[in-house]
Amino acid sequence: MAELVRLPASAHAELLELLGPEGLVTDAQVVASHLVDWTGRFRGTGPAVLRPRDTAEVAGVVAVCRRHGVAVVPQGGNTGLVGGSVPHEGEVVLSLRRLAAIEPVAERSRQITVGAGAVLAVVQAATRRHALDVPVDLGARDSATVGGMVATNAGGLQVLRHGSMRRHLKGIEAVLGDGSTISHLGGLDKDNTGYDLAGLLCGSEGTLGVITAVRLGLVSRPSHRVTALVAFASAAGAVDAVATWRRSLPDLEAAELFTGDGVGLVCRTGGARDPFERRHPWYVLVDVAGPHDPSDDLAAAVSSIDDVLDVAVATDEPRRAALWALREEHTPAINTLGAPHKLDVTLPLDALAAFLVDVPRTVAEAAPAATTWLFGHVGDGNVHVNVVGVAPDDERVDEAVLRHVADLGGSISAEHGIGVAKRRWLHLNRSEAELHAFRAIRSALDPDHILNPAVLV
Ligand code: FAD
Ligand code: MLT
Ligand code: ZN
Repeated sequence: MAELVRLPASAHAELLELLGPEGLVTDAQVVASHLVDWTGRFRGTGPAVLRPRDTAEVAGVVAVCRRHGVAVVPQGGNTGLVGGSVPHEGEVVLSLRRLAAIEPVAERSRQITVGAGAVLAVVQAATRRHALDVPVDLGARDSATVGGMVATNAGGLQVLRHGSMRRHLKGIEAVLGDGSTISHLGGLDKDNTGYDLAGLLCGSEGTLGVITAVRLGLVSRPSHRVTALVAFASAAGAVDAVATWRRSLPDLEAAELFTGDGVGLVCRTGGARDPFERRHPWYVLVDVAGPHDPSDDLAAAVSSIDDVLDVAVATDEPRRAALWALREEHTPAINTLGAPHKLDVTLPLDALAAFLVDVPRTVAEAAPAATTWLFGHVGDGNVHVNVVGVAPDDERVDEAVLRHVADLGGSISAEHGIGVAKRRWLHLNRSEAELHAFRAIRSALDPDHILNPAVLV
């Protein structure tokens, strides 16, 4: 276990008085569990985990830390995949998990206010009792917090229908790096009163402020849902089919791509089962959901595509879950092979199919012994390039893949953010003028640079 760095005695005493013994954790074993990221690639050091109970205590923490020059890493569920949620330079971890209050659903406006530490699955359970849903869903739903999802502008499995977190953000409460608290949670749909601070904090990855509460817009929860797993011989066939279905299936909610090798891996390492007798090169998992049974529309859409090799359809919950396990088990299954380099990228849709074929070669040239695993949210042009068999700090493969993406006009981060993993390559997507604006905003809101100093810029 890495040796913990020390918190200055005076800061320790003030934080203890502010938070009490339950709010200031220095037990080495507990602290250590907050110092490593979900992938195991990023391991840091830090002296303590702070666990405030409310916004006032968060403001107190920021004030004490500013006074003593102690840097802070906000942490929600620690499911982030770019190393942004763990300390890298001896910062304290500021866990938001105790700010987990969930207010009643506002039925008329179809909104909800929740504490930043509320876990997505718990919020989903609360909204689904009203036939409403959080518009963003992701595989880490049992651990990821709403605050972390806003801080990363999380995408997930339904972006092609609903968009990412920012689209649904109706208000925010946060303690900024300068110590001030902003609270704008009224939830008005029309509110043109100056800068959109909620939108600015969304995707800021804990660098501008500590989000303490969020007002979210909700969507109707469809009463009917059908899932289909469709097999293809080529990446181009899969990508073209999804483009067609986006036009012909207005109730298309998800379109997820993965490979035959990936199916083999999830079946070997977990409980998932391949529904087909033969393994196929490429798969697309689609969800269609609406107020009426979409089975006939889905069947017509699938049969309109000549390239389909095989199809399995599920209408009931257990069989749908079995098909979804083939997709959602990719992330844990890949982790069993070693700490992956996770390169979450978006390509222009016209370049996507060629990229899917070419990128394993790009990886092989940079890291001949590595293996490449491809899956992602194909409807959004978002591919998760996972590379295993490369040392955590060997960045040659990251360099090669991210340059390949930028050369094709893509984004080096589709939904996971920049964190520390991609900081070196942010210039591939952002001009010097944009980076200058980033730094100016950061210095204005966090003048002492105490919030997540290792992250983003
Ligand atoms: P953390 O990991 O704790 O933190 C992430 C970042 O946000 C860090 O920079 C941290 O400092 C900052 N932060 C956290 N809370 C706050 C706060 N209250 N105020 C200010 N800053 C804060 N992501 C997707 O976008 N789409 C997916 O489909 C998806 N699927 C996933 C599936 C699995 C199995 C796993 C493990 C991860 C997945 N992720 C996905 C990544 C991750 O779940 C998201 O990035 C999520 O939004 C992180 O939430 P968290 O609470 O775990 O945040
Ligand atoms: C996913 O789509 O499953 C997530 O973004 C997690 C990952 O990339 O592994
Ligand atoms: Zn994803």
